[in-house]
Amino acid sequence: MDKKNFPIFKNAKFQGSISHGSGSQEKDFIYLDSSATTQKPQVVIDEIKKVYENYNANVFRGLYRISEEATSMYEETRKAVADFINAETSEIIFTKNTTESLNTVVYSFAKSILKKGDNVLLSEMEHHSNIVPWQILQKEIGFNILYLEVDKSGQFTNLDLITQKEPKIVSVVHISNVLGVINDVKKITKMAKDVGSYVIIDGAQAVGHIGVDVKTIDCDFYAFSAHKMMGPTGVGVLYGRKELLDKMEPLYGGGEMILSVSKDSCTFKDAPYKFEAGTPNFVDIIAFRKSIEYINDLGISNIHKYIKDLSTYTHYQLSTLKEVEIYGDSRDTGIISFNISGVHPHDVATFLDEDNIAIRAGHHCAQVLMKKFNVQALSRVSLYIYNDKSDINALVKSLSKIIDYYK
Ligand code: ALA
Repeated sequence: MDKKNFPIFKNAKFQGSISHGSGSQEKDFIYLDSSATTQKPQVVIDEIKKVYENYNANVFRGLYRISEEATSMYEETRKAVADFINAETSEIIFTKNTTESLNTVVYSFAKSILKKGDNVLLSEMEHHSNIVPWQILQKEIGFNILYLEVDKSGQFTNLDLITQKEPKIVSVVHISNVLGVINDVKKITKMAKDVGSYVIIDGAQAVGHIGVDVKTIDCDFYAFSAHKMMGPTGVGVLYGRKELLDKMEPLYGGGEMILSVSKDSCTFKDAPYKFEAGTPNFVDIIAFRKSIEYINDLGISNIHKYIKDLSTYTHYQLSTLKEVEIYGDSRDTGIISFNISGVHPHDVATFLDEDNIAIRAGHHCAQVLMKKFNVQALSRVSLYIYNDKSDINALVKSLSKIIDYYK
């Protein structure tokens, strides 16, 4: 799969002087941080420019041609998203990111059904955006937060907690942003439904990597972001089962989400519109469709296979460096976290940057998991379709230099 459609790789070559080498040298940009955000193909960038240049009029509000065109393009993206995850268009809410999608579920749904003493089940591998909103609401209501535990390889060890504790809500991540493990969310949902729980899935790292079918999973809510699947930043998606969305109160009140407003009261539009108060990020939402088409053209199963093969290659290459310890053993996705003995992850990332190699280092917004593994921070490589073996070879060469330097 080709880098040439992604202009960043032409533009972000490193031209400066190299402090750990000799003189000035041009270095290719090697991007290994796609779990943080993916790079954008030219078609997505072009579409943003095209919308600003030709269709920049507020959606739903203008009774004139370009506003109506912008509105219909906005709705075409909703349809493309719905088809992509096998949902109905009325079940797709646009938000600003996965975090806002999860917060919408917590405040518009969970808050109305949870009572003091109820159980909410999360997991130790959750991103902070699927922990912190629950803890904030917990202070108000007094429910219990329980955690599925994770072993060293990244597997849950106490799934029977679902049957034992009969949580009112189970909210878990589909693919861990640290361990890269794909959780069996279909099985978890089945177990949860058998005891009457509602199920929320954080799909930020999954959509764009593996085929996601919300009907097959059978979850109640599924949250993700456009920018992690080659789309623009500032666009999130919340899928919600229609009958639940119909019962939920909106999180935000404001323009275009109402049917009527008087001095004393207001009524709301049907879902999804009652959840989209104010001017939405319509330019980026329209451009988001281009990234979905890009993925569809490549084929999601081809993408998954490509990344899986490259992940296996990366694991093997990293295993040749005895100082490297990998956390978790999933080769299914391109997310690989590791430490180098005696070198802080921030130093690893800074050193790699000298070779124009971008990785993420830190706690990855997963401090519960860091604590479980007894580490403050990890280095993380995350792959996408524009990476290839030459990127991994360059990474391993640069890591070898770091290891030699710290010896
Ligand atoms: N959640 C993103 C990551 O894991 C930002 O890097």
